[in-house]
Amino acid sequence: MLPNLMDAKIRNKSEVKTYYDDYVIPPSVSEYGKGKKYFILTYGCQMNVHDSENIKAILEDMMFDEVSSMDEADLIVINTCAIRENAHNKVMGMLGRIKHLKETKKHNLITVFCGCMAQEEVIANKLKNDYKWVDIVFGTHNIHKLPLYLAKVIDSHKQDIEVYSIEGNIYENIPVKRDSKYKAWVNIMLGCDKFCTYCIVPYTRGKQRSRMPEDIILEVNSLVNSGYKEVTLLGQNVNAYGKDLDINYNLANLLVDVAKTGIDRIRFVTSHPWDFTDEMIDVISKFDNIMPYIHLPIQSGSDRILKLMGRKYTRDEYITLFNKIKEMIPNVSISTDIIVGFPGESDADFEETLDIVKLLKYDLAYTFIYSPREGTPAAKMEDLTPMEVKKKRLATLNSLVNHYALYNNKKYLGKTVMVMLEGHSDKENKLMGYTDTMKLVNVKASDDFIGEIVPVKITDVKTWSLEGELVDD
Ligand code: SAH
Ligand code: SF4
Ligand code: F3S
Repeated sequence: MLPNLMDAKIRNKSEVKTYYDDYVIPPSVSEYGKGKKYFILTYGCQMNVHDSENIKAILEDMMFDEVSSMDEADLIVINTCAIRENAHNKVMGMLGRIKHLKETKKHNLITVFCGCMAQEEVIANKLKNDYKWVDIVFGTHNIHKLPLYLAKVIDSHKQDIEVYSIEGNIYENIPVKRDSKYKAWVNIMLGCDKFCTYCIVPYTRGKQRSRMPEDIILEVNSLVNSGYKEVTLLGQNVNAYGKDLDINYNLANLLVDVAKTGIDRIRFVTSHPWDFTDEMIDVISKFDNIMPYIHLPIQSGSDRILKLMGRKYTRDEYITLFNKIKEMIPNVSISTDIIVGFPGESDADFEETLDIVKLLKYDLAYTFIYSPREGTPAAKMEDLTPMEVKKKRLATLNSLVNHYALYNNKKYLGKTVMVMLEGHSDKENKLMGYTDTMKLVNVKASDDFIGEIVPVKITDVKTWSLEGELVDD
């Protein structure tokens, strides 16, 4: 079955089902990976990173071992992202390399293409017609069926493409091999129903659907029991958590229940300004283990552009929410996403974006040039701004954003903050970790401290990171 954007766009109230035992490994492949190696390449957001953690565990269930070099692999997985054109280009370039490898060195190499790009109709068709050497193609809804696809391909020696264009169900009990022993991603909801006019995600990830609270709490409890210190609750739009359930339970309720598991640190991304309630702000401010860091994408400072984007809030509503969060959550840090060069964005619209950045002084902002995505409403809007102008806008915005990143970091100088040390820093002899407010800190400390949450005195600040020393407590 191939994906279809038209089908994906028709959202209905059809019931979402949760399946608890849909993951099976056919006997023919249960030991297929013995002595074989896999290599996985992951593009895109945390959700894809977490999906790759599932794919790794599934492959290891079939006895494959992971390698860090593509050349050594017997099976290569490429987990793709469709959010912008450059994500696409990177993947297509990489496919060329893999094809070369398959033709020149490894004729038995099994190639797997999955993730958000596979959900796109044009891409799935292209793989079917022009990339027949790609063995397995599956989308974001059927990761758990990888063993079945592998069995089929081994049996038939033919390409197998299965991408669901249905709105998606929820599959529990898929194994996971987590990249970290200390911090874990936990999906709380899948898909997105917001349909911002520029965005491909509602088509590639399907209908918004929340996992049942008890399944989430069970997962967090088992993480606590295995020694995990931090969970990040994941969703495209976590503030809408629970809206699709019939049980009168929302993100504020979930945050309370997750906080009560006793895990040291709770984070959550991404918050859409539209669904942010006072109750959530209240809960975040009350629990010490809910981190005071909010990613609150604004996208544009111009009401005209926000309307065209379908973001459903105004500049003033956003500012009011931002100020409320700042007032009610002590020391909170706030980051954002901004798109420049949306179709029809004038100099005046862009100035409004700069103004709002000056007003709100974000801790961090991820900035992008608008990239038209086939099948989205914005892709059909007239866009007369030359790329050169868009690039200039991005550069102007970035220098402002960097200025405020440093400005906010300077407030940390001389202060002692709690840092969870996660691993080695790029800098010699240093470990790296994050403050509760999500500031990256490099600290001189021995490996014994990896996985610990420790007090650190900040001795130097830069735009993107802080430097610190351990404090004896
Ligand atoms: N669900 C999240 C966003 C996920 S995508 C939210 O709504 O906040 C991450 C970011 O990519 C978006 O916030 C947006 O800034 C950017 N983005 C999405 N589609 C884009 C496009 N077509 N062109 C450029 N940037 C885009
Ligand atoms: Fe895309 Fe908007 Fe959904 Fe975020 S909320 S994933 S930007 S459609
Ligand atoms: Fe990319 Fe899909 Fe995430 S398009 S940003 S990997 S949801």
